[in-house]
Amino acid sequence: MAKYEINGGKPLNGTITISGAKNAAVAILPAALLVHGVCRIENVPNISDTCIMLGILKQMGAQIEYPEPGVVEIDCSSVQCSEPDGDLVKKMRASYYLMGALLGRFGKAHVALPGGCNFASRPIDQHIKGFLALGAEVDETEDYVALTPGEEGLRGQRICLDMASVGATINIMLAATLIPGQTVIENAAKEPHIVDLANFLNTMGARVSGAGTDTMKIRGVNCLHGGTYAIIPDQIEAGTYMAAVTAVGGNVLVQNVIPKHMECITNKLQEMGAKIINYDDSIRIIRSGRLRQTTVKTRPYPGFPTDMQAQVCVCMSLAGGISRLTESVYETRFFGYCTELESMGAKISINGKTATVSGVEKLRGATVCAHDLRAGAALVIAGLAAEGTTYVEHIHFIERGYEDLVEKLTSLGADIRRLDN
Ligand code: EPU
Repeated sequence: MAKYEINGGKPLNGTITISGAKNAAVAILPAALLVHGVCRIENVPNISDTCIMLGILKQMGAQIEYPEPGVVEIDCSSVQCSEPDGDLVKKMRASYYLMGALLGRFGKAHVALPGGCNFASRPIDQHIKGFLALGAEVDETEDYVALTPGEEGLRGQRICLDMASVGATINIMLAATLIPGQTVIENAAKEPHIVDLANFLNTMGARVSGAGTDTMKIRGVNCLHGGTYAIIPDQIEAGTYMAAVTAVGGNVLVQNVIPKHMECITNKLQEMGAKIINYDDSIRIIRSGRLRQTTVKTRPYPGFPTDMQAQVCVCMSLAGGISRLTESVYETRFFGYCTELESMGAKISINGKTATVSGVEKLRGATVCAHDLRAGAALVIAGLAAEGTTYVEHIHFIERGYEDLVEKLTSLGADIRRLDN
């Protein structure tokens, strides 16, 4: 199995460009099912999750062209299928967005339950609650979810989510765009990719308002038309490189970012001792002296993202003093990487939702295993910072979400190679 070999201890210097946001792309690509005409989507990251989603759409009958790198043209006008291939669907988590998109397009859907990163129990009861409220009948088994229109058909409704779920907000938005009436989502998620999907849909003729606030409104329209849309830069990819510079040291200009999306991350890295300069669409990060301890609690946006928990834990492992890291979105997320980090010399003790991290002077190279995407990215950062050689195994998880990771890090002076077996 492929792995990364990293010879650590080399500071990171230079410029990198952030790719389009994974979590926006995996929502916007299936949203093309709602559009009659060609969607030209720019800034699409070339990662395995987007390749799988495009493969699913193609298998369903979408016409897909790749006119230039990072650009995809999708025409779903002739798609007739409401049951995507189960084996493909199981390869990724966000394939559950096909439920909302197909319900919106055909009034029915038969979608296998998704696979992907299983760092915690990841129920979809809030998605189902939304579909039921919109008037769908739901047949849910261990293997699939089948949606059909209920007796009174599909109609906009007011839905109050029990928690601000990113996935449920997106699925309800997709389902509601083409059905009659107005849908209101209360306690909606506010992550940047929610706003990005709403902007995509509105560009194609939808009437979505309030994205980025607790209350979203979707006024159903008869059809969406083709158009051009560019996906936002990836907040978590940018945060991952910034955490890498913080842990390893160096001076890097991170290009193609929206600094406002990065505030919750930059504040913490600054507290730890990194120097950060914001420009219009780039951020310079510089770190030289020893890092300081800090306290982080993950929260939904605009709080510190759970998807940066593991990366900041590596920075804490190298900081002077004792740091505290509390996870409030997915309680079991620590288990994906803390034992691996400990094998590299980190000192972490976990008590329920909180990890207490006692900083050490150095990490040392080891053979470690990525158990999920962000845990894997954290182990790469640890390897870059460590003394000696680190091998990171199970890198297919990392390749779900980081475009050209090896090339980008190499361009900054890192010594990292992908070994095929
Ligand atoms: N939840 C429920 N029921 C639901 C939905 C969610 O109990 O029906 C719970 C979850 O168990 C969790 C919390 O609500 O405790 C939040 O889950 P959410 O639905 O917001 O997460 P998600 O949509 O499954 C997305 C991202 C994740 C990211 C989370 C939180 C995508 C494709 N995935 O997941 O990204 O961790 O939001 O921000 O957008 C990643 O990129 O590595 C990743 C895992």
